[in-house]
Amino acid sequence: MIKLIVCKDYEEVSDKAAQLVLDVVKSKPDCTLGLATGSSPIGLYQRMIRDHEENGTSYQNVKSYNLDEYVGLDVHHPESYYSFMYRNLFDHIDIREENVHLPSSQGDDLQKNCDDYNAALAQAEVDVQVLGIGSNGHIGFNEPHTPFDSVTHIVNLKESTIRDNARFFDDDISKVPTQAITMGISNVMAARKIVLVATSAHKADAICKTICGPITEEVPASVLQKHPDVTIIVDEAAAALLPKEEVKVEVLNTEVFDDVVREGTVLVDFFATWCGPCKMLGPVLEQLAPEYGGKVRFYKVDCDNDPALAQRFGVTSIPNLVILKDGQLFSRSIGFASKDQLKAFLDSAL
Ligand code: F6R
Repeated sequence: MIKLIVCKDYEEVSDKAAQLVLDVVKSKPDCTLGLATGSSPIGLYQRMIRDHEENGTSYQNVKSYNLDEYVGLDVHHPESYYSFMYRNLFDHIDIREENVHLPSSQGDDLQKNCDDYNAALAQAEVDVQVLGIGSNGHIGFNEPHTPFDSVTHIVNLKESTIRDNARFFDDDISKVPTQAITMGISNVMAARKIVLVATSAHKADAICKTICGPITEEVPASVLQKHPDVTIIVDEAAAALLPKEEVKVEVLNTEVFDDVVREGTVLVDFFATWCGPCKMLGPVLEQLAPEYGGKVRFYKVDCDNDPALAQRFGVTSIPNLVILKDGQLFSRSIGFASKDQLKAFLDSAL
């Protein structure tokens, strides 16, 4: 389930991400972190460093696994992800070198490097995975159309990714490596908790598709909709394409519920204000409601404000659409559904 947090700027995004990651480190001093590079998590790493310096939070027993590494750069090249991680985090905290893991892109047998990293990940049990997102929806270097069941592999970077990353290579596309080794999508999804950070208008399309679009290998990050514990933290620019319209369908609460649903066919949308896919469903329901005229009545229930009602209908994940006929549960649809899927769902009740 995706929890969405919209912040005013990068600083606030980094504060929120740091709260989540530091909660894990403080409550489990021997935790395993999944880490990302790129500009998105730098503010988070700065806060982890500050917290280490000011509060003494220790990383002595923390292990880390990075998502990816370029192929073709020496490990000590300033833009290798190894160098990035030491420069931006590891040099400033007390993590032990033997507990730091990045995929190795050195040597002749890159496939063996991938297999070794997979074997290590299989033992690792990542407590919290930090992610950025590419403007094309990639996570790690899992580019569009990477199978959701992929594990650590060698990847040819898409042109859009090479262009995006040229800023780290004097804006010279020819200097950007064209291959990388990346954790696969199934490795990422194995983490207990995932925190994705994204800022700027450049990410708005990818964020919208990730949260509100169909789950498709075309948009690798859309797989996160299937994970039980994902928090996506964005600034207002990255949130710009997310639907803003709150559902205008009437909100019900326990007191009036039974009276309202006693007769006829009723669609109840169990939602939460922080849930991205729920936000996307709102406008679809708004569009659909008039089409059903008097045949179906549409209502919504805010699960956070009315947990008793949600519990009564066995709502454990959201969005959760429930059709009631004459007050009785008739059918249920869980997760985001497109307008056509909702029509088929509603027509089944009529
Ligand atoms: C980096 C990584 C990439 C980046 C993504 C966003 O380890 O895995 O998926 O997270 O390309 O990069 P930035 O944050 O630089 O926009």
